[in-house]
Amino acid sequence: MNNIIGRDIEKAAALLKEGRVVAIPTETVYGLAADALNEKAVKRIFEVKDRPAVNPLIVHLANADLIPNYASDIPDVAGRLIDAFCPGPLTIVLSKKAVVPGMVTANRDTVALRIPAHPVTRQLLKMTGLPLAAPSANPSGYISPTSAEHVFRNMGHKIDYILDGGVCNAGIESTIVGFENDLPVIYRQGVITADDIRLVAGEVLQYAGDKMLAPGMSATHYSPRTPMILADNIDDEIEHHRKRYLGVITYNEYVASVPQSQQILLSENDELGEAAKKLYAAMHMMDTRGYEVIIARRFPDTGIGLALNDRLQRAAIKL
Ligand code: TXA
Ligand code: MG
Repeated sequence: MNNIIGRDIEKAAALLKEGRVVAIPTETVYGLAADALNEKAVKRIFEVKDRPAVNPLIVHLANADLIPNYASDIPDVAGRLIDAFCPGPLTIVLSKKAVVPGMVTANRDTVALRIPAHPVTRQLLKMTGLPLAAPSANPSGYISPTSAEHVFRNMGHKIDYILDGGVCNAGIESTIVGFENDLPVIYRQGVITADDIRLVAGEVLQYAGDKMLAPGMSATHYSPRTPMILADNIDDEIEHHRKRYLGVITYNEYVASVPQSQQILLSENDELGEAAKKLYAAMHMMDTRGYEVIIARRFPDTGIGLALNDRLQRAAIKL
Protein backbone atom coordinates (compact mmCIF):
# COMPACT_ATOMS: atom_id res chain seq x y z
CA MET A 1 0.00 0.00 0.00
CA ASN A 2 2.78 2.30 1.02
CA ASN A 3 5.19 1.35 -1.75
CA ILE A 4 4.93 4.74 -3.39
CA ILE A 5 6.98 6.17 -0.50
CA GLY A 6 10.70 5.46 -0.85
CA ARG A 7 14.23 6.78 -0.65
CA ASP A 8 15.30 5.93 -4.21
CA ILE A 9 16.73 9.16 -5.65
CA GLU A 10 17.53 7.51 -9.00
CA LYS A 11 13.95 6.35 -9.37
CA ALA A 12 12.68 9.86 -8.60
CA ALA A 13 15.14 11.33 -11.13
CA ALA A 14 14.06 8.88 -13.83
CA LEU A 15 10.37 9.66 -13.29
CA LEU A 16 11.01 13.41 -13.42
CA LYS A 17 12.99 13.06 -16.65
CA GLU A 18 10.02 11.17 -18.13
CA GLY A 19 7.81 14.16 -17.35
CA ARG A 20 6.11 12.65 -14.31
CA VAL A 21 5.23 14.36 -11.04
CA VAL A 22 7.10 13.34 -7.86
CA ALA A 23 6.83 14.60 -4.27
CA ILE A 24 10.22 15.72 -2.96
CA PRO A 25 11.56 16.69 0.46
CA THR A 26 12.90 20.17 1.11
CA GLU A 27 14.05 21.80 4.33
CA THR A 28 10.82 23.84 4.44
CA VAL A 29 7.95 21.58 3.34
CA TYR A 30 7.52 18.77 0.80
CA GLY A 31 7.14 19.91 -2.80
CA LEU A 32 5.24 18.43 -5.73
CA ALA A 33 7.88 18.53 -8.43
CA ALA A 34 8.01 18.32 -12.20
CA ASP A 35 10.41 19.37 -14.96
CA ALA A 36 9.86 23.15 -15.12
CA LEU A 37 10.62 23.21 -18.85
CA ASN A 38 8.04 20.52 -19.72
CA GLU A 39 4.61 22.16 -19.94
CA LYS A 40 2.71 18.89 -19.88
CA ALA A 41 4.45 17.89 -16.68
CA VAL A 42 3.81 21.30 -15.14
CA LYS A 43 0.14 21.09 -16.11
CA ARG A 44 -0.10 17.85 -14.16
CA ILE A 45 1.09 19.66 -10.99
CA PHE A 46 -1.84 22.06 -11.26
CA GLU A 47 -4.23 19.13 -11.79
CA VAL A 48 -2.96 17.04 -8.89
CA LYS A 49 -3.12 20.00 -6.50
CA ASP A 50 -6.33 21.40 -7.96
CA ARG A 51 -4.41 24.68 -8.05
CA PRO A 52 -5.74 27.74 -9.87
CA ALA A 53 -3.68 28.41 -13.02
CA VAL A 54 -3.19 32.03 -11.89
CA ASN A 55 -1.01 30.95 -8.96
CA PRO A 56 2.63 30.73 -10.15
CA LEU A 57 5.13 28.04 -9.12
CA ILE A 58 8.60 28.25 -7.58
CA VAL A 59 11.44 26.83 -9.71
CA HIS A 60 14.05 24.89 -7.73
CA LEU A 61 17.67 24.84 -8.89
CA ALA A 62 20.71 22.77 -7.89
CA ASN A 63 22.90 25.81 -7.24
CA ALA A 64 22.99 29.59 -7.48
CA ASP A 65 25.22 29.60 -10.57
CA LEU A 66 22.20 28.43 -12.56
CA ILE A 67 20.08 31.47 -11.68
CA PRO A 68 21.20 33.57 -14.70
CA ASN A 69 19.92 30.79 -17.02
CA TYR A 70 16.37 31.58 -15.93
CA ALA A 71 16.44 35.21 -14.74
CA SER A 72 17.81 38.51 -16.02
CA ASP A 73 18.49 41.98 -14.57
CA ILE A 74 19.49 40.56 -11.21
CA PRO A 75 19.90 43.45 -8.75
CA ASP A 76 23.14 43.59 -6.71
CA VAL A 77 21.17 43.24 -3.53
CA ALA A 78 19.63 40.02 -4.84
CA GLY A 79 23.15 38.73 -5.36
CA ARG A 80 24.00 39.54 -1.75
CA LEU A 81 20.90 37.73 -0.46
CA ILE A 82 21.70 34.72 -2.64
CA ASP A 83 25.26 34.62 -1.27
CA ALA A 84 23.99 34.89 2.29
CA PHE A 85 21.01 32.51 2.25
CA CYS A 86 21.26 30.07 -0.67
CA PRO A 87 21.01 27.14 -0.47
CA GLY A 88 18.30 27.66 2.11
CA PRO A 89 14.68 28.58 2.83
CA LEU A 90 14.65 31.70 0.64
CA THR A 91 12.81 32.24 -2.66
CA ILE A 92 13.68 35.23 -4.82
CA VAL A 93 11.47 36.72 -7.50
CA LEU A 94 13.38 38.04 -10.54
CA SER A 95 12.71 39.06 -14.14
CA LYS A 96 12.18 35.86 -16.07
CA LYS A 97 13.95 34.69 -19.18
CA ALA A 98 11.94 33.35 -22.13
CA VAL A 99 13.03 29.76 -21.51
CA VAL A 100 10.71 29.55 -18.48
CA PRO A 101 7.24 28.50 -19.69
CA GLY A 102 4.41 30.95 -19.03
CA MET A 103 2.48 28.16 -17.35
CA VAL A 104 5.09 28.06 -14.55
CA THR A 105 4.87 31.78 -13.82
CA ALA A 106 1.14 32.20 -14.52
CA ASN A 107 2.23 34.39 -17.42
CA ARG A 108 3.97 36.90 -15.21
CA ASP A 109 7.21 38.47 -16.39
CA THR A 110 8.89 37.34 -13.18
CA VAL A 111 10.00 33.92 -11.97
CA ALA A 112 10.38 32.70 -8.38
CA LEU A 113 13.64 30.79 -7.85
CA ARG A 114 14.90 28.79 -4.90
CA ILE A 115 17.95 26.66 -4.13
CA PRO A 116 16.76 24.16 -1.53
CA ALA A 117 19.21 22.97 1.12
CA HIS A 118 17.83 19.47 1.69
CA PRO A 119 20.65 17.05 0.77
CA VAL A 120 18.33 14.51 -0.90
CA THR A 121 16.75 17.07 -3.18
CA ARG A 122 20.09 18.73 -3.91
CA GLN A 123 21.32 15.37 -5.11
CA LEU A 124 18.14 14.85 -7.11
CA LEU A 125 18.51 18.25 -8.78
CA LYS A 126 22.09 17.44 -9.72
CA MET A 127 21.15 14.01 -10.99
CA THR A 128 18.33 15.22 -13.23
CA GLY A 129 20.08 18.38 -14.37
CA LEU A 130 16.59 19.88 -14.52
CA PRO A 131 15.03 22.96 -12.99
CA LEU A 132 12.13 21.60 -10.92
CA ALA A 133 8.87 23.50 -10.58
CA ALA A 134 7.42 22.61 -7.19
CA PRO A 135 4.61 24.04 -5.11
CA SER A 136 3.99 22.61 -1.65
CA ALA A 137 2.68 19.04 -1.99
CA ASN A 138 -0.76 19.61 -0.47
CA PRO A 139 -4.18 19.84 -2.09
CA SER A 140 -4.75 23.54 -2.80
CA GLY A 141 -5.83 25.32 0.40
CA TYR A 142 -4.91 22.50 2.81
CA ILE A 143 -1.98 22.39 5.27
CA SER A 144 1.48 21.99 3.70
CA PRO A 145 3.16 18.60 4.32
CA THR A 146 6.26 18.31 6.47
CA SER A 147 6.64 14.52 6.15
CA ALA A 148 6.24 11.89 3.43
CA GLU A 149 3.26 10.50 5.37
CA HIS A 150 1.45 13.84 5.16
CA VAL A 151 1.86 13.80 1.38
CA PHE A 152 0.75 10.17 1.19
CA ARG A 153 -2.39 10.77 3.23
CA ASN A 154 -3.54 13.75 1.19
CA MET A 155 -2.48 12.98 -2.37
CA GLY A 156 -0.88 9.53 -2.35
CA HIS A 157 -3.55 8.22 -4.72
CA LYS A 158 -2.71 10.84 -7.34
CA ILE A 159 1.07 10.58 -7.71
CA ASP A 160 3.60 7.94 -8.68
CA TYR A 161 6.30 8.45 -6.10
CA ILE A 162 7.05 10.25 -2.85
CA LEU A 163 10.77 10.67 -2.24
CA ASP A 164 11.16 10.36 1.52
CA GLY A 165 13.71 12.70 3.09
CA GLY A 166 12.41 12.55 6.65
CA VAL A 167 10.74 15.35 8.59
CA CYS A 168 11.34 18.87 7.22
CA ASN A 169 13.66 20.89 9.40
CA ALA A 170 12.38 24.42 8.95
CA GLY A 171 8.73 23.34 8.79
CA ILE A 172 7.11 26.36 7.12
CA GLU A 173 7.34 27.55 3.51
CA SER A 174 10.29 29.65 2.33
CA THR A 175 10.55 33.39 2.79
CA ILE A 176 9.70 34.99 -0.59
CA VAL A 177 11.49 38.19 -1.54
CA GLY A 178 10.99 40.32 -4.64
CA PHE A 179 12.64 43.60 -5.61
CA GLU A 180 11.12 47.01 -6.24
CA ASN A 181 13.50 49.78 -7.25
CA ASP A 182 16.30 47.47 -6.17
CA LEU A 183 14.92 47.21 -2.63
CA PRO A 184 13.97 43.80 -1.25
CA VAL A 185 10.26 43.36 -0.54
CA ILE A 186 9.02 40.44 1.55
CA TYR A 187 6.03 38.77 -0.11
CA ARG A 188 5.82 35.83 2.25
CA GLN A 189 7.39 35.60 5.71
CA GLY A 190 9.39 32.56 6.74
CA VAL A 191 12.19 31.37 8.99
CA ILE A 192 14.54 33.82 7.29
CA THR A 193 13.14 36.92 8.95
CA ALA A 194 12.97 40.58 7.95
CA ASP A 195 15.77 41.24 10.47
CA ASP A 196 17.96 38.55 8.83
CA ILE A 197 17.40 40.19 5.44
CA ARG A 198 17.98 43.70 6.76
CA LEU A 199 21.38 42.65 8.09
CA VAL A 200 22.46 41.73 4.57
CA ALA A 201 20.48 44.21 2.47
CA GLY A 202 20.44 47.25 4.76
CA GLU A 203 16.77 47.87 4.10
CA VAL A 204 13.72 45.67 3.54
CA LEU A 205 10.05 46.37 2.86
CA GLN A 206 7.01 44.30 3.74
CA TYR A 207 4.61 43.82 0.83
CA ALA A 208 1.53 45.88 1.50
CA GLY A 209 -0.26 45.79 -1.84
CA ASP A 210 -3.13 43.75 -3.17
CA LYS A 211 -3.17 40.54 -1.17
CA MET A 212 -4.34 38.55 -4.18
CA LEU A 213 -1.48 39.78 -6.32
CA ALA A 214 1.02 38.99 -3.62
CA PRO A 215 2.61 35.60 -4.03
CA GLY A 216 0.16 32.93 -2.96
CA MET A 217 -1.14 35.22 -0.38
CA SER A 218 -4.84 34.61 -0.58
CA ALA A 219 -6.28 35.34 2.85
CA THR A 220 -7.34 31.76 3.50
CA HIS A 221 -4.69 29.12 3.13
CA TYR A 222 -3.01 26.23 4.88
CA SER A 223 -6.24 25.35 6.68
CA PRO A 224 -7.11 22.15 8.51
CA ARG A 225 -10.58 20.75 7.73
CA THR A 226 -11.58 21.16 11.36
CA PRO A 227 -12.38 24.81 12.08
CA MET A 228 -9.35 26.39 13.74
CA ILE A 229 -9.39 29.50 15.91
CA LEU A 230 -6.37 31.71 16.48
CA ALA A 231 -6.47 32.72 20.13
CA ASP A 232 -5.04 35.98 21.42
CA ASN A 233 -6.34 35.04 24.84
CA ILE A 234 -6.33 31.26 25.12
CA ASP A 235 -8.26 31.05 28.41
CA ASP A 236 -11.11 33.21 27.11
CA GLU A 237 -11.30 31.20 23.91
CA ILE A 238 -11.40 27.88 25.77
CA GLU A 239 -14.06 29.17 28.13
CA HIS A 240 -16.11 30.36 25.17
CA HIS A 241 -15.96 26.89 23.53
CA ARG A 242 -16.02 24.80 26.72
CA LYS A 243 -19.06 22.75 25.63
CA ARG A 244 -17.29 21.53 22.51
CA TYR A 245 -14.75 18.77 21.97
CA LEU A 246 -11.55 20.82 21.71
CA GLY A 247 -8.01 20.34 20.53
CA VAL A 248 -5.44 22.90 21.62
CA ILE A 249 -2.14 23.76 19.93
CA THR A 250 -0.02 25.63 22.38
CA TYR A 251 3.44 27.13 22.20
CA ASN A 252 5.49 26.67 25.36
CA GLU A 253 3.11 25.56 28.11
CA TYR A 254 0.01 23.44 28.49
CA VAL A 255 -3.23 25.15 29.42
CA ALA A 256 -4.71 23.99 32.72
CA SER A 257 -8.38 23.81 31.71
CA VAL A 258 -8.12 21.13 28.96
CA PRO A 259 -6.78 17.56 29.38
CA GLN A 260 -3.18 17.34 28.16
CA SER A 261 -4.19 14.45 25.89
CA GLN A 262 -6.15 17.01 23.85
CA GLN A 263 -3.20 19.38 23.53
CA ILE A 264 -0.02 19.54 21.47
CA LEU A 265 2.84 21.48 23.02
CA LEU A 266 5.20 22.78 20.34
CA SER A 267 8.30 23.87 22.25
CA GLU A 268 8.80 23.24 25.92
CA ASN A 269 12.02 25.27 25.76
CA ASP A 270 10.42 28.29 24.18
CA GLU A 271 12.18 27.99 20.82
CA LEU A 272 10.28 29.45 17.89
CA GLY A 273 12.40 27.47 15.40
CA GLU A 274 11.33 24.23 17.05
CA ALA A 275 7.72 25.39 17.03
CA ALA A 276 8.00 26.13 13.28
CA LYS A 277 9.30 22.65 12.65
CA LYS A 278 6.36 21.09 14.50
CA LEU A 279 3.45 23.41 13.75
CA TYR A 280 2.09 21.85 10.54
CA ALA A 281 2.53 18.31 11.89
CA ALA A 282 0.47 19.40 14.90
CA MET A 283 -2.25 20.78 12.61
CA HIS A 284 -2.26 17.58 10.54
CA MET A 285 -2.48 15.50 13.72
CA MET A 286 -5.25 17.61 15.25
CA ASP A 287 -7.21 17.28 12.01
CA THR A 288 -7.30 13.46 12.36
CA ARG A 289 -8.67 13.43 15.91
CA GLY A 290 -12.28 14.39 15.30
CA TYR A 291 -12.33 17.61 17.34
CA GLU A 292 -15.15 20.07 16.82
CA VAL A 293 -12.77 23.00 17.09
CA ILE A 294 -9.00 23.47 17.19
CA ILE A 295 -7.72 26.40 19.21
CA ALA A 296 -4.20 27.58 18.44
CA ARG A 297 -2.41 29.97 20.71
CA ARG A 298 -0.85 33.05 19.11
CA PHE A 299 2.96 33.05 19.15
CA PRO A 300 5.06 35.94 20.46
CA ASP A 301 5.26 38.59 17.72
CA THR A 302 9.04 38.44 17.39
CA GLY A 303 11.48 36.72 15.01
CA ILE A 304 10.02 33.55 13.45
CA GLY A 305 6.90 34.09 15.58
CA LEU A 306 5.77 36.67 13.00
CA ALA A 307 5.80 34.08 10.20
CA LEU A 308 4.06 31.52 12.44
CA ASN A 309 1.29 33.97 13.33
CA ASP A 310 0.93 34.81 9.65
CA ARG A 311 0.32 31.11 8.87
CA LEU A 312 -2.09 30.66 11.80
CA GLN A 313 -3.99 33.75 10.72
CA ARG A 314 -4.50 32.31 7.24
CA ALA A 315 -5.36 28.85 8.56
CA ALA A 316 -7.88 30.11 11.08
CA ILE A 317 -11.55 30.69 10.42
CA LYS A 318 -12.35 34.37 10.15
CA LEU A 319 -14.53 35.36 13.08
O1 TXA B 1 9.25 26.49 0.83
C1 TXA B 1 8.69 26.61 -0.24
O2 TXA B 1 8.72 27.68 -0.88
C2 TXA B 1 7.96 25.39 -0.80
C3 TXA B 1 8.99 24.33 -1.16
C4 TXA B 1 8.37 23.13 -1.83
O3 TXA B 1 10.01 24.90 -1.92
N1 TXA B 1 7.17 25.75 -1.93
C5 TXA B 1 6.06 26.50 -1.83
O4 TXA B 1 5.40 26.65 -3.03
O5 TXA B 1 5.66 26.96 -0.78
P1 TXA B 1 3.90 27.20 -3.13
O6 TXA B 1 3.54 27.09 -4.55
O7 TXA B 1 3.05 26.49 -2.17
O8 TXA B 1 4.05 28.70 -2.77
C6 TXA B 1 4.81 29.50 -3.64
C7 TXA B 1 4.31 30.90 -3.65
C8 TXA B 1 2.95 30.98 -4.24
O9 TXA B 1 2.13 31.57 -3.30
C9 TXA B 1 3.10 31.86 -5.45
O10 TXA B 1 2.05 32.75 -5.60
C10 TXA B 1 4.41 32.57 -5.21
O11 TXA B 1 5.18 31.66 -4.49
N2 TXA B 1 5.07 32.89 -6.48
C11 TXA B 1 5.56 32.03 -7.37
N3 TXA B 1 6.06 32.68 -8.44
C12 TXA B 1 5.88 34.00 -8.22
C13 TXA B 1 6.16 35.18 -8.95
N4 TXA B 1 6.73 35.15 -10.15
N5 TXA B 1 5.83 36.36 -8.41
C14 TXA B 1 5.25 36.40 -7.22
N6 TXA B 1 4.93 35.31 -6.48
C15 TXA B 1 5.24 34.13 -6.96
MG1 MG C 1 1.62 26.14 -0.88
